[in-house]
Amino acid sequence: MTRLTLRRPDDWHLHLRDGAMLRAVLPDTARHFARAIIMPNLVPPVVTVADAMAYRARIMDALPDGMTFEPLMTLYLTETTDPADVAAGAADGAITAVKLYPAGATTNSASGVRDIAKVMPVLEKMAELGLPLCLHGEVTDPAVDIFDREAVFIDRVLNPLREALPDLPITLEHVTTADGVDWVSGAPGRTAGSITTHHLMITRNDILVGGIKPHYYCLPVAKRATHRDALRAAATSGNPRFFLGTDSAPHVDPLKECACGCAGCYTAPVTMACLAHLFEEEGALDRLEAFASLNGPAHYRLPPNEATITLEKSDEPVTYAAKLGSGDGPVTVFDPGHPLHWRAA
Ligand code: DOR
Ligand code: ZN
Repeated sequence: MTRLTLRRPDDWHLHLRDGAMLRAVLPDTARHFARAIIMPNLVPPVVTVADAMAYRARIMDALPDGMTFEPLMTLYLTETTDPADVAAGAADGAITAVKLYPAGATTNSASGVRDIAKVMPVLEKMAELGLPLCLHGEVTDPAVDIFDREAVFIDRVLNPLREALPDLPITLEHVTTADGVDWVSGAPGRTAGSITTHHLMITRNDILVGGIKPHYYCLPVAKRATHRDALRAAATSGNPRFFLGTDSAPHVDPLKECACGCAGCYTAPVTMACLAHLFEEEGALDRLEAFASLNGPAHYRLPPNEATITLEKSDEPVTYAAKLGSGDGPVTVFDPGHPLHWRAA
């Protein structure tokens, strides 16, 4: 048996939802991860510091006895977000970042940003405070092909923003293209990119070849293999600008397996097994700790976790449950398409 001990990982992009779904999915994350950046795209969204504090309390209330977990809260940026509220939340540590969804880009993003000029006062305040901006990096222009939306976002939004606010800490979340990898690698300032579990494992063929596979549909949508390989190279390179943000995003099966299915892959239970498998395959197991446990805290200026996790590999495949039951219905767990041999000890 091979064993690997690393500092406990964090998840720098996570959807926990609320209510029954929150109670069902939280243990799958808390089992492996010490902290996570919690996405604010609830219905209605988490738009004020008071909303974030109330949501944080609901998360802590849902945490089973004996488990430890620290939710790092975010605000959902709207065109009416108050810079003073953001500043107050940053000052007392109630929020760790602010999330920008272009309006209409993804699940529950209708109250997102249409005109970036309208949120400049908030972004200027964040730059002054050093408070990170997390970005869903896709344009929503209907004329732009869905596979090009990240690259066009870099040209139209990210480059001008990076130039206008050189001090703003930026996380380009769930990078899916070689263009995104290049931008994160080369942009000046406090710039980083998170990479999901599923975008390291699948390509668009996994969604579309041999029948449509709704459980691989997410946003940004998975791209062709050259892009997936650029993500693998970035994640396993040790480059401190890249770290794990799973974007684990549970939806009940009826909302995935239908005529207009929701975007999102539920990866929390299998992420560490998938990553160990991938890093081993790439001959980079010694860099898994940087990607999962060190680079994220460095970008967010938080200490890495003192606690550790031990991963062990067995000759026999490890069985992971294919579905998670929740009070709202069953949620299909991400299937990487090959057996997994790693588990947390
Ligand atoms: O696939 C996704 N699911 N991408 C997102 O940006 C949102 C997420 C969700 O909330 O389901
Ligand atoms: Zn997300």
